[in-house]
Amino acid sequence: MQQPVRIAPSILSADFARLGEEVRAVDAAGADWIHVDVMDGHFVPNLTIGPAVVKALRPHTAKTFDVHLMISPVDPFLAAFALGKKAGVSLNPATPAKMLDYVLEEVDLVLVMSVNPGFGGQSFITSQLRKIEAIRKQIDKAGLSIDLEVDGGIDPETARLAISAGADALVAGTATFRGGPDLYAENIRALRG
Ligand code: DX5
Ligand code: ZN
Repeated sequence: MQQPVRIAPSILSADFARLGEEVRAVDAAGADWIHVDVMDGHFVPNLTIGPAVVKALRPHTAKTFDVHLMISPVDPFLAAFALGKKAGVSLNPATPAKMLDYVLEEVDLVLVMSVNPGFGGQSFITSQLRKIEAIRKQIDKAGLSIDLEVDGGIDPETARLAISAGADALVAGTATFRGGPDLYAENIRALRG
């Protein structure tokens, strides 16, 4: 069942010199989760942060860390990030919803990438709306309680489209952090529609 939307600001668009403050600011501004983009310069063409930074940020908020691992290999690093947490699976734009067959029962969250992963500030790929609709049907048909999250190019307009297609969690980097801390609350509110 589709739940009320959760907003997960991606700290990829935050000021990296003040990450702790930025996390506290989006928490106070109404973020539901904090999205952390972990990139290795190999699985995706960008290099960001590792487990030490995630650990350093943990005391700055009680909200859920939605840690998006774009690294290969991934298994050797899981323990360094977290153990015994909820698990999600991500689908790149060209990956069909069918890839979820046989694994859907095992996950807590499905993340549909609506841009090719690597960078913030890209445009939403509208063909992903059909995929979101298909996955929403699959989740509901199976009676599973799985979050359906969308990541990339989310702004108030694409947020509306993604929610209508069945998404119930939205990652937003550029759209959250634009304009600086005074606007974070207004930016997050605008994404809820
Ligand atoms: C892209 C990342 C996204 C990114 C989204 O590879 O997974 O989380 O930060 O940025 P915006 O919201 O600016 O498209
Ligand atoms: Zn992400």
